[in-house]
Amino acid sequence: MKSEKIQDLGLDPEKLPVHIAIIMDGNGRWAKKRLMNRVKGHEKGSKTVRSIVGAVRELGVGMLTLYAFSTENWERPKVEVKALMMLLKRFLVSERDELMTRDIRLNILGQKEKLPGDIQEETDKTVDMTRNNQGMVLNLALSYGSRQEITLAVRSLAQKVLSGLIRPDEISEEMISDHLYTRQMPDPDLIIRTSGEFRLSNFLMWQAAYSELFITDTLWPDFTKDELIEILINFQERDRRFGKVKCST
Ligand code: IPE
Ligand code: IPE
Ligand code: MG
Repeated sequence: MKSEKIQDLGLDPEKLPVHIAIIMDGNGRWAKKRLMNRVKGHEKGSKTVRSIVGAVRELGVGMLTLYAFSTENWERPKVEVKALMMLLKRFLVSERDELMTRDIRLNILGQKEKLPGDIQEETDKTVDMTRNNQGMVLNLALSYGSRQEITLAVRSLAQKVLSGLIRPDEISEEMISDHLYTRQMPDPDLIIRTSGEFRLSNFLMWQAAYSELFITDTLWPDFTKDELIEILINFQERDRRFGKVKCST
């Protein structure tokens, strides 16, 4: 989107977040309110995914991370997990053309190896196909959990110490960041959670150190581009201090 158009929306193109992350919550409650099966909520939620990916791309934000399935979500009823995997597969196949046209690169954060074989095949295919796209990065957090991610990083660093590649006192914050699924990625500037819960639920706990948090009561299937723009306006009004003071007097 051209910068004049972004200004027309009330946004400053210079102050857009580089990386937005979203905890897409509330599909089940959306369905319950309508006396429908939870799976219907997930179906509607996947339509919101499509529209918000398009909106973020249009706004010119470089990276979007969507929390789609947590390490804890495996403990949901089997039918629900199965339905979520089916929807994920459908999304990976149906959105391929769209990702190519919109120049979006897909990335997976999480335990890929835990996903069913057919899903792994489709994710690999989409990730490969979109590898050289430059317009935006779309991270799907799948079977993702911060604690699992940090545990893996600790193990890998311990192994490097054991084999003499590094000394314990050489382990730095940068080195830890480089052993996470998000290696080489900027931390999220803004984390949005839908459906009104005030928690991170094991999402990007290391990376969220200085993220701005925004909680909306809107359930994910009802979330729109207009609300996203309102949240971005609010984000631009915030004073991000990173623990420092603005000016010394
Ligand atoms: C978010 O919606 C989708 C996933 C966690 C996969 P929920 O299914 O958690 O919806 P609620 O929180 O029960 O309403
Ligand atoms: C967080 O939502 C996980 C995803 C959105 C994928 P949950 O619904 O699983 O989180 P809790 O149970 O409310 O903390
Ligand atoms: Mg939930």
